[in-house]
Amino acid sequence: MAKLTIDGKEIEVPDGTRLFDACETARGEALPHFCYHPDLSVAGVCRLCQVEIEGMPKLTIACNTTVRDGMVVHTRNERVTTAVQQILEMHLINHPVDCPICDQAGECGLQDQYMSFGLYESEVAEADKVNKAKAQVIGPHVILDKERCVLCSRCVRFCQEVTKTGELGIYNRGDRAEIGVAPGVELDNNYSLNTVDICPVGALTSRDFRFQKRVWMLRSTSSICNGCATGCNVRLDHEGNRVFRLKPRHNEAVNGPWMCDVGRMTHKDLHSEDRLEAPLTKKDGALAETSWQDAREALKGLIKPGKVVYALADPGQSLEELTLFRRLAKVLVGEAQMAGGIAGEGRGEGDDILLDADRRPNRQALEWLDLAEISPTDLAEALGGTKGTLLVYGGDPAAHPEVAAALSRLQVIYLGTHRGATAEAADLVIPTAAWAEKDALWANRQGRIQRGQRAVAAPGQTREDWRLLVDLLAHLGQDPEVGGLPALRRLVAAELELTDEDVLNRLPAEGLVPDRPAPAPAGGE
Ligand code: SF4
Ligand code: SF4
Ligand code: FES
Repeated sequence: MAKLTIDGKEIEVPDGTRLFDACETARGEALPHFCYHPDLSVAGVCRLCQVEIEGMPKLTIACNTTVRDGMVVHTRNERVTTAVQQILEMHLINHPVDCPICDQAGECGLQDQYMSFGLYESEVAEADKVNKAKAQVIGPHVILDKERCVLCSRCVRFCQEVTKTGELGIYNRGDRAEIGVAPGVELDNNYSLNTVDICPVGALTSRDFRFQKRVWMLRSTSSICNGCATGCNVRLDHEGNRVFRLKPRHNEAVNGPWMCDVGRMTHKDLHSEDRLEAPLTKKDGALAETSWQDAREALKGLIKPGKVVYALADPGQSLEELTLFRRLAKVLVGEAQMAGGIAGEGRGEGDDILLDADRRPNRQALEWLDLAEISPTDLAEALGGTKGTLLVYGGDPAAHPEVAAALSRLQVIYLGTHRGATAEAADLVIPTAAWAEKDALWANRQGRIQRGQRAVAAPGQTREDWRLLVDLLAHLGQDPEVGGLPALRRLVAAELELTDEDVLNRLPAEGLVPDRPAPAPAGGE
């Protein structure tokens, strides 16, 4: 261990600690910085993290210095502050200061540093600034403004060290130096939007989020990405009942500080035109909107043991919902006539960083609940020649032609979020809440149960799924007597036989009971 004094405060840190991190511990806030990032190599190029170390003639940068026992460090004295101001002025010499039209405004490192250390009149006339290319599309998701870049090299190091794709580089020298991709190359990897997160200024911005919303208008809610089985911890930024973007939340055990671009785009499905917003019943061969009350009565009329011939749930549903659905299916059809998703559905191409080929967030839960997948052919066979009702919860089995063909003699009840082939084939459609619209547990590929909080309200007449499932169980004389989420989660824990140790292992950060408020909007990464 090394003992050192920082701004008069004595601290002890492990040998080998970076002085930058020790200063953050002692000060309770990070030193000014652009280039340092705890998950990338040290570049030491922005020179902003200046500190004075007693016994050393010159100021030094803390990010590239290792602590020594007995060090006495000053981070806030006049000499340091003047140096930081001068370096900041250098960074701002050619900066366009176009904050009013910059997406980064409100969460910009340059704005933050200027408010802390700047607040002076610049000596540089605007006409003398070096102009560079603006609004260059450099990949499917990212747009580059070269004038705003402070050449911190974070994005370059990310592409070298994390994705190992190396698309970005710094070209030219002196005040002509600029970030860019080589001719014919695009910033096109599964993680390109992480460069937008780590860019401390508005040089790299998201094409999807561009000009959609000023960041200070957004509220943030902690959630779990539903894009694949990895279950990255994310923050949903939303306003006016609309999710505008997903950002990663650091969880060393799951996703570290990153998330993939596939996951970032999952907010689009929440607000797509084919979202189901009201119950529908089939009249004269066409689906027509009906009231929730009428739909519930129709549902209760159809859902009866002996009438339902098969029950199918998709692993896109939450752990609570699948647990309740399994109970319901057991009463209605017994274990032989239920399945958890269509084999092969919800699969894509994965990689060896985070993105899993399994694009469902909760397949692990199906395994725990003994809900096996079924192939479209086997399902068609199980349904063929039977009369009665098919109960489908999520997914889109009728998108498979063999399943669609087997539906003609059946009545189909579809509980789901989108108007796909199964909804079209159904006699009764009940809209259900999508992942961002509910407080729910998800079991990722590691078997880790994680909790996502409700960010926005479900559209139209949609209600919480678990209440509907509890209602149906009660209708069948199997009321699980859960009046709220805490009781429901206790039921899930009992059903899955989670011991205290399991709960501890699977829920390291968040309890079964929703007891944590959503974090305040974050200002910069
Ligand atoms: S584009 Fe952003 S992250 Fe990349 S070097 Fe410039 S300022 Fe740094
Ligand atoms: S890796 Fe999977 S869970 Fe993580 S952000 Fe991507 S799609 Fe979402
Ligand atoms: S943060 Fe230390 S030099 Fe950039």
